[in-house]
Amino acid sequence: MIKKQRHIESMDEDEKLSSCTYASRYMTEPVPKYELPERSVSERTAYRLIRDELYLDGRPVQNLASFCSTWMEPEGDELIQQGLHYNLADEDEYPHVIKILERCVNILANLFHAPSNHSGGAVGTATIGSSEAIMLAGLAMKWNWRKRRNERGEPTDRPNIVLGNNVQVCWKKFARYFDVECKYIPLEVGRYVITPELVADAVDENTIGVCAVLGSTFTGEFEPVEEINDTLAEVNKARGFDIPVHVDAASGGFVAPFLYPDLEWDFRLPLVRSINVSGHKYGLCYPGIGWAIWRDRSWLPEELVFRVNYLGGEMETFNLNFSRPASGVLGQYYNFLRLGREGYANVMKALKRNADYIRERLVDTDQFDVLSDDRSLPLVALSVRPELPYTAFDLSHKLREKGWIVPAYTMPGNAESITCLRAVVREKMSREVADDLVEDILAATSELNRLKPGKKTTSVSSGSSDLIC
Ligand SMILES: Cc1ncc(COP(=O)(O)O)c(C=O)c1O
Repeated sequence: MIKKQRHIESMDEDEKLSSCTYASRYMTEPVPKYELPERSVSERTAYRLIRDELYLDGRPVQNLASFCSTWMEPEGDELIQQGLHYNLADEDEYPHVIKILERCVNILANLFHAPSNHSGGAVGTATIGSSEAIMLAGLAMKWNWRKRRNERGEPTDRPNIVLGNNVQVCWKKFARYFDVECKYIPLEVGRYVITPELVADAVDENTIGVCAVLGSTFTGEFEPVEEINDTLAEVNKARGFDIPVHVDAASGGFVAPFLYPDLEWDFRLPLVRSINVSGHKYGLCYPGIGWAIWRDRSWLPEELVFRVNYLGGEMETFNLNFSRPASGVLGQYYNFLRLGREGYANVMKALKRNADYIRERLVDTDQFDVLSDDRSLPLVALSVRPELPYTAFDLSHKLREKGWIVPAYTMPGNAESITCLRAVVREKMSREVADDLVEDILAATSELNRLKPGKKTTSVSSGSSDLIC
């Protein structure tokens, strides 16, 4: 992380050093903070110094801002620990790790209804998260668009992508890093997803693809992928385009197949040519694993795939990173074997029950409005009623006093007047924890109502750019 630091020269000697009260027991002198220490310390001392600093951070179980898993079973932990020793890039050394990776790709392609992938020939790759997967899928869309334009002798200097301005920041990064214009569809108060009509108006001959989000970062809602597919098919036909849909299923990819199996959002729709999903969100793994899956071979341009032949046979690689631990892949495969469809469905249903429970209890107080519909991610996205004397930011700050991290942020684009308070329900949240959260929210709202009767406070907005995911 790039942080503005005071220059080391301007600090006094004490500021440059790390020390602690037990220093005299384990360390004979403090260690420098910003320079490599001259001397070694024992492994126990180094461990303690770092661990004690981590205690100062929020508690993962109370962090309801993040979609990322904070807990796995000890057997998963063990495999992840073992996976740290394996470099995914060393394919010739670790062919079984690669076989496991390929099985995961096929399992996901199957789950997402990729055509004819039962024989193990699914096309996809493991990534560090959805961001990397989106970069890869975006590049594939750009290459495909350019190839088609080149074949027709048409200019290729102004590629654009059509998406809602509710997309996660990784899409903005993709567009900037890889020189693609974002054609944003603005949200409005009361509409927090894109619509097929707005997509149809926005696309043109330079559109490399449309991004539809299955599980908006802001409200958890699913964008209407099926309707977008159908409308875009008509536009493509009428205007001679071949614009694909990419589904950003970072969160929804592990939710929809289990909670709403009849919802058509994946490769069942002909224009859906690539999908990303984060294993570390509802895939129930720790941060560091995501997946990019293509409909079939024809949508992954040859030029973007690099081949190595260390294994005797030919191996293909298509990633932004080279060296990385196998941990994420092993953790994901552990969950696939351990949970199966039944286990994932049970977990997702339990998460939804808890999210519904929290939402209903809060809405019953007549202080909140619901911002997402029933068919969305298992989370609670509410706005504070405008007539109340406190804001969602006040409530978010107040909850911090009890250790809860429940972010408040303004919605993007034309919906900026709405502030959302969002609590992501994850696997570690039991009904007891949900009850504690509700009780703490209710206590906070009574205090805020008492402290600020009759007028809105002027809490500083954390803004949508601070959204943690
Ligand atoms: C819809 C959506 N897309 C992409 C991302 C980026 O995912 P990752 O953190 O796995 O890179 C997120 C993160 O929350 C997200 O919510």
